[in-house]
Amino acid sequence: MNLKGQHILSTKQFDKESLISLFQLADKMQEILKKSKAGKQDMTMEGKLMATLFFEPSTRTRFSFETAMQRLGGRVISNADMMGTSSWKKHETLEDTGKVVSQMADVIVMRHPEAGSVKRLASASDVPVLNAGDGPSEHPSQALLDVYTIWKSKGKLDGLTIGMSGDSKYGRVPHSQCDLLKHFDCKFIFVSPEALKMPEAIVKELRETGHEIRETENLGESIGEMDVIACTRIQEERFSSEAEYKKYAGVYVLDNTLMQKAKTDAIVLHPLPRVNEISPEVDKDPRVKYFEQVGNGVAIRMALLVSVLG
Ligand code: NCD
Repeated sequence: MNLKGQHILSTKQFDKESLISLFQLADKMQEILKKSKAGKQDMTMEGKLMATLFFEPSTRTRFSFETAMQRLGGRVISNADMMGTSSWKKHETLEDTGKVVSQMADVIVMRHPEAGSVKRLASASDVPVLNAGDGPSEHPSQALLDVYTIWKSKGKLDGLTIGMSGDSKYGRVPHSQCDLLKHFDCKFIFVSPEALKMPEAIVKELRETGHEIRETENLGESIGEMDVIACTRIQEERFSSEAEYKKYAGVYVLDNTLMQKAKTDAIVLHPLPRVNEISPEVDKDPRVKYFEQVGNGVAIRMALLVSVLG
């Protein structure tokens, strides 16, 4: 699949073949990254400028895209507080913002709290726009780096039992992970409170594509079957009230006692930030991959930038 000049708005743009070639490109990016850290600057993106427009908080995703661009020799203009300090405050539309920023930058990375918002901005942009998270809907680059981490750690994507624990209703990460993993022969165990279950449309699509799915509220009972334990945060900012959020905050806490029940070769993923869903005592467990994921995220975003900018 040729991504040159394309927006990356959704995981739906990827199939099995394009995923594997992106992962192979990310492996090459790891080499460039290593050399760059040793002082040998790559100049693949020389002369290219990336704009990052963040209407929602971010640590990893924004820094990771910006690191990716700079490790490839490109440059970055950035606004981490679009809600507070951009012309959004003067009621500029997303379409106008897209048109304007695309007159300056060669590629735009955007995060926004509303589903479909990145697509709106992209519709008016003359340059590729990369979705860095649109509300509870999608987070393609995070899911790509998650599946890349599974592929690297387990050496395969077929034949795995994937556990997803946390907020599957509002979490854009589990939604995007399912949409990528549907291309592989995986079994799914979704662990969440009844009110935060995986959306029916996602479950239906996975079943229709031949995947076995089990939904449960009990992590302790199911953890022993999982090859991948993918945890997510209860998405506080998406709840209608603090009281509603508090009902679910801390509902799952992965600690060393639970880890004793997990397979010896399982891996633990989390997009971060964590609140309390993984106890820090688990960090020393060799099955933990959530900090390694961050490094893989830079390589995946380098691969995405190289793919869209050519
Ligand atoms: C995730 C997000 O923003 O959706 N974080 C990230 O990008 N690493 C997960 C989350 O905020 O819970």
